This record gives sequence, structure tokens and C-alpha cells, in this order.
Amino acid sequence: MANDFSAQWREIREDALAAVERVGRSGWLILGQEVEAFERELADWWGVAHAVGVASGMDALEIALRCAGAGPGERVLTTPLTAFATTLAILRVGAQPVWCDVDSSGSLDLERAAAVLRADPGIRFLMPVHLYGHPLDPAALAEIQRACGVTVIEDCAQSAGARREGLPTGTVGLAAGLSLYPTKNLGAMGDGGVLLTADADLAQRARRLRNYGQGARYEHLEEGLNSRLDELHAAILRSAMLPRLDAWVTRRREIAELYVHGLRPLAGRLEPLLATGGTSANHLFAVEVVGGDPQRFRAGLEARGIAAGRHYPLLCPEQPAISGRGQVCDPLENARRIARREVSLPIHPQLSDADAERVIAACLEAAQ
Ligand SMILES: Cc1ncc(COP(=O)(O)O)c(C=O)c1O
Repeated sequence: MANDFSAQWREIREDALAAVERVGRSGWLILGQEVEAFERELADWWGVAHAVGVASGMDALEIALRCAGAGPGERVLTTPLTAFATTLAILRVGAQPVWCDVDSSGSLDLERAAAVLRADPGIRFLMPVHLYGHPLDPAALAEIQRACGVTVIEDCAQSAGARREGLPTGTVGLAAGLSLYPTKNLGAMGDGGVLLTADADLAQRARRLRNYGQGARYEHLEEGLNSRLDELHAAILRSAMLPRLDAWVTRRREIAELYVHGLRPLAGRLEPLLATGGTSANHLFAVEVVGGDPQRFRAGLEARGIAAGRHYPLLCPEQPAISGRGQVCDPLENARRIARREVSLPIHPQLSDADAERVIAACLEAAQ
């Protein structure tokens, strides 16, 4: 099971139903006190001054980019190995994506990114992704931001709970986008997202942009979106999900440790793509099939009842929707290899030790 939302429901049912009851009784369904309270509680949990609830992680990135001034004529350096939403947010604001390669663990190669930015000062924005929940080096990111004079917007869709050098992800750049998609570490019972920032003016503008660009009631100061987080989602998130988030992230970590240990006999054939530093949020557990046929390995897992995922089989610049837009500045060797050879093993807080052992046993057999 890639995820087990029925098991999650058994765990959260009472708190979620109480949250629904609270919203129903309040008679207030859109942008009310539940969203406000969730934003405050999440901002405290994350350790950032402002959180703005929106309708999806992609919207959070789009709104952050708009607030940062990325638009037509601008280019945004990012990773080719990510959810297409990262690239789509850039295209949606009218900017052009620029892709450089990832390192051998799948994360944006920050040295390479710095070199590209130094060589092409016309690129004024950087959107790194804390892929798989692995935190990028905050000191390196801060140095790129300073030395290259770029505005950094962090894609934290997968990194709720990750820390490096004592810092949560999303706190180096001007703003960050978090996804509340149900599979995420902090998942809603539907779509949702959050923009995180230390900048009070930016947060205020994001609140306006999520609501048609409305300043005073029925007065629209700019062309905004309809991208509001519902009261129902906010209520369930703050009553049922957020209070469990630390425990859920810890559980993901335990499963990741079981996998790392259990897969050791396959060293040289199957290599986990692990964080290069800090503490991962372990949103995904990606392995690279180094020796052997990744297709056969995946089929072997499926034949043994293990739902294996792929993150991501097609690089962003190769998506049919792109049709020549954007700029590829590397051969993208690492990204291409990982796209071909990566397999994601099931990881979620409801997975038992016995489930994890079953996954490991299946890997040991399928990799033969
Ligand atoms: C790295 C990354 N960025 C952005 C997104 C977009 O988030 P959402 O699906 O909430 O729009 C996702 C989630 O799918 C993601 O994994």
C-alpha cells in the first residue's frame, strides 16, 4: 500500500469529526477563524512568522513567485527532477523555467546552480525543491542568494519536518510553498497548500492574491486567484493532523531506518537516495536500481503485492506540455539516470514494522 487513508481515518476519526462539527455549528465556511488559527499554529510549528493558507501547493508557489516579482521576461532556475507543479507554477506567472542538473542523491546540485547563476546574471530567481523530504544545505542556499543576488522561493511540498543546521526548510528564501495534498507529511482530506514567509508585507499581499486580489470588500487591487483554503480543511488540519505531525514524521524516519538497514545486503545493486545532510522528513523513500533492470525490479515488487512508485519518470523539460519552452543548461545526466532507475518504496505513518519487513523481503527477492 502506497498510502493507507482508511487506517489514517481510524486514527483521526474523533478529532476530525469534532472539527467538522465545530465548523458546521459556526456557520462560517470560507476564510474564517479556523483558517486563521491553522495559519498561526502551523507558523509556530514550522518556526516561521507567517503562514497563508491557499488551495494547493502549486498555488502557494505561484503566489510566492508573483509576490517576489517573477513574471513575464524573468527566468527561474530550478530542478528538472520534481513534480511538474514546480515548473508549472513558474510558467503560470509568465516566467520561463531554467533547469540544471541534480546531484547523485536527486537533489538540485547547488554548486552547479551557483555556477549557472554566476555565468548568467539575467536569471534573477531560484526555486530549489527539498526533494523526497531531504533538506538542502541552508548555508549553501543562503550563500547563493547573497553572492548571486537571486530571490529564492523554496518548494517545501515534500519537506514538512525536515531540518538541517538547526533550521527547518523554507526559511532561507523570501518565501516557500507547502503542499497539503493528502499523501504529503501534513496532508489535508483534499487539496490545500500554504505559503510560508518571514515577510509581513508579502504575507498580506498573498492573502489578497488568494482572494481575487481583493483589498477592501469588492475592491480588487490586482488580478488575483481564487485560491482559498476551506474552513473545513483548516479545522481538520489543526485538530486532527497538525497535533500528530511530529509523531508521523518520527514514524516515517523509523521506517526509513528499517529500509536502510534491511536493504544493506543489496549494496551495489540497490542504493537508497538519502539526504546528504540534516534530518530528512522522509516524505518518499527513493532507491536507485544500480545493477540490474529497474523495470524488472518494479515488476518483481508488484508481483509480490508491493505498490512501488516512481518519482519522477519524465523530467519536467521533457513533459509534452512544455513544447520547447524553458531552457536546459546541462545534459542533465544525473537527473536522467535517476528518472530511469528510481523506484519509490511505500512509506507512510500507518505502515507497521511487519509491513516494512515485507517490503524489504520483496526487495531482496526482486533484486536477485
Ligand atoms: C515537489 C512538489 N512541488 C509541488 C507540488 C504541488 O503541490 P499540490 O499538489 O498541492 O499542488 C508537489 C505535490 O504534488 C510536489 O511534490
